[in-house]
Amino acid sequence: MVRHLRTEANAGRMLPFVIEYQGRLVGQLTVAGITWGSMCSGHVGYWVDESVAGRGVMPTSVAMVVDHCFRTVGLHRIEVCIRPENGPSRRVVEKLGFREEGLRPRYLHIDGAWRDHLVFALTAEEVPEGLLSRWRRTRSRHSPTPQNAPGNAGGNHREPRN
Ligand SMILES: CC(C)(COP(=O)(O)OP(=O)(O)OC[C@H]1O[C@@H](n2cnc3c(N)ncnc32)[C@H](O)[C@@H]1OP(=O)(O)O)[C@@H](O)C(=O)NCCC(=O)NCCS
Repeated sequence: MVRHLRTEANAGRMLPFVIEYQGRLVGQLTVAGITWGSMCSGHVGYWVDESVAGRGVMPTSVAMVVDHCFRTVGLHRIEVCIRPENGPSRRVVEKLGFREEGLRPRYLHIDGAWRDHLVFALTAEEVPEGLLSRWRRTRSRHSPTPQNAPGNAGGNHREPRN
């Protein structure tokens, strides 16, 4: 697995990342299928450990990687393909403001069958201010604080849940 990632990365077709949260490796995010020429595009795949799910780790990670791809690597388009029934993953791209482009019927062979996927994408022009700063701004607008959280008279000991 690691050898495959390294080979693809060395060939310039993939950018594999690991995600650390509070000093622990909790997930992976990979930009794969990188194509140059007139396309300059790649698609993103990801997972996080259940123990940290729901804390905004993945939207933050995706935002950082998209900015890196657009600003440093020089890609123009990032795509995420998601099975329609994968609610948590759809929330990640919805919260980040990815554009929904439509359905690819029977797009990938997963768990023994050809599965439909919804396509979400962003191009560099859509996030001139950077995706991380946009995500931070929208996130802080929607996160409860100790002062305005419903039913919270004082301390808010949970991580904000976007
Ligand atoms: C999809 C995934 C990466 C989301 O990562 P994350 O860091 O939990 O993302 P968020 O914190 O933004 O949570 C996204 C949604 O997950 C759901 N969620 C919240 N808490 C959760 C928990 N404890 N366990 C599972 N899902 C939870 C909520 O619907 C949340 O949306 P909300 O913020 O509107 O409430 C993660 O659920 C995962 O690894 N899933 C399995 C692998 C996968 O589906 N990969 C994507 C393939 S396209």
